[in-house]
Amino acid sequence: MKMIIKGGRVLDPASNTDAIKDILVSNGVIIKVEDSIDGAADSVIDAKGCFVMPGLIDLHVHFREPGFEHKETIRTGARAAARGGFTTVCVMPNTKPVTDCVEVVKYVVDKAKEVTDINVLPIAAITAGQDGEFLTDFENLKAAGAVAVSEDGKSVMNARVARQAMRLAAEVGIPVFAHCEDKNLVARGVMNAGNKAKELGFYGIMNAVEDVIVARDILLAKNTGAQLHLCHCSTEDSVRMVEEAKKAGLPVTAEVCPHHFTLTEDDIPGDDANFKMNPPLRAKADVDALVKGLGSGIMDVISTDHAPHHKTEKELSFTQAPFGITGLETSVCLTITELVNKGVLTPLQMAERMSYTPAKILGSDKGTLLPGKIADITIIDPEEKYVINSDEFVSLGKNTPFNGREVQGKVRYTIAAGKVVYSCVGGNECIIDKDVPKL
Ligand code: DOR
Ligand code: ZN
Ligand code: ZN
Repeated sequence: MKMIIKGGRVLDPASNTDAIKDILVSNGVIIKVEDSIDGAADSVIDAKGCFVMPGLIDLHVHFREPGFEHKETIRTGARAAARGGFTTVCVMPNTKPVTDCVEVVKYVVDKAKEVTDINVLPIAAITAGQDGEFLTDFENLKAAGAVAVSEDGKSVMNARVARQAMRLAAEVGIPVFAHCEDKNLVARGVMNAGNKAKELGFYGIMNAVEDVIVARDILLAKNTGAQLHLCHCSTEDSVRMVEEAKKAGLPVTAEVCPHHFTLTEDDIPGDDANFKMNPPLRAKADVDALVKGLGSGIMDVISTDHAPHHKTEKELSFTQAPFGITGLETSVCLTITELVNKGVLTPLQMAERMSYTPAKILGSDKGTLLPGKIADITIIDPEEKYVINSDEFVSLGKNTPFNGREVQGKVRYTIAAGKVVYSCVGGNECIIDKDVPKL
C-alpha cells in the first residue's frame, strides 16, 4: 500500500525542515521526503496549503474507561483524538479501578488495540488506589506498557512518599507526570482566587496552591534525579520556577493547556461549570507568562488535559460540578488561532510543542517525519475559519468553554501508521474506525 502526500508544508523539528515537499508512505512507514515524488501509488493526498506535521501527541488526557464509561470510553476518546489530529495520547490513571496494577494497564493496552488504530498509552498511578500512601510497582507497570507514572487529579501530598516515588522512578527510568495542587491550601476553592471569584461569591484557588508543589517537586527531582514533567502549569511563578530548574540543568519539562493560554478568569461568564477546571483559569499576568514561556520554549509542550464529564454533571453549579473540560477537538485550532497567528509560535515550533518534544519526554522515536519512521502524520489547513460547535464533537464530553468561538485551523487528515483514521475534505468529515474496511 503506497500513499503520496503531495505539496504540503512539511514541518519536521527533528531535521529542522520547513519546506514544501512530498512524502511517500509505504506499508505504514515513511519511505522518503523529497521536493517532488511521482510514480504509482494507491492513494494521493493533496496537501497544498496545509501543514504536514508528525502525528500530534497528547501527553495528558482522561478517557474514563474502566469505570466511568458514561463520560468517555477508550473508543470514543480515541475517535475524538483522531478528529483532533492526534495519533498518540497518554491516558491518566484516575479511572475505576485506578490504573495502579499490571491488570488495569494491560486492560487499557488491550482495549486500545481492539478499538483504535491510534496509540493509546497508559500512565500508571504513583500510589495504590491513588491514596497517597503505598507506591505501586513501577518496574512491572512499565514492563506492562505504562509510559509514565502520575497521581493526576491530585498530588502525592506526603513529601516523603513523593520523594520515594521519584527515587523509584529514577531507578526504573520512568517519567513522573506531576499534578501540582496542595490539597490543604485549596480548601473549598472552585475558581481562581481573584476578581471573578469575588464578583460571583465563590471560594478561590490561590496560585500558591500550585506553586508550592511545583517548587517541592522540582526540589525532589533535584534530590532524586527523577525525570519530572509538570502537568497543566497555570501560574507565572510556575513558569519562573521551570526556567530556573532548566538553568540548573535539571531534567524538568512542563506543559500548558490551550484553555490556560487562551482564557483568563475574566472570560468566565457567570455560574457556568464549562469554565470549571483544575487548575483554574488564572489572571492575565499568568496567561501572559504562559504564552511567553511557550514562545521561548521554557514551557515545552501543549497538552489538553482532555477531561470529559457528563452533561448532567456540568449543568450543576460551579460549586457542585466536577473539574475538567474536553480538549482534544479544539487544541489544534486554539494553538493556531492564539499562538501561531499571533506570532508566538512558528508552525515548526507548533510541531515541536505538540509532537516532537512530547515524543522526547516519552523516550519515543515518534514525533518526526524522518524516513524509516512509522507514518504517523497530521495534515492541517491553517487557513480555514469556523465556529466551534460542541454538538459536532465525537467525544462523549461536550463540556467546553469554547462553544461558539470563532477559530482558524482545521485538521484535514490524521494518519496513524499509514492509515487515514480521520479526514475532512470538502466539508465531509469521516472517521475511519478500526476494522471498518476503507472505501
Ligand atoms: O480539571 C481537571 N479534571 N483536573 C484534573 O486534575 C482532573 C481532571 C479530571 O479527571 O476530570
Ligand atoms: Zn491534573
Ligand atoms: Zn488531568
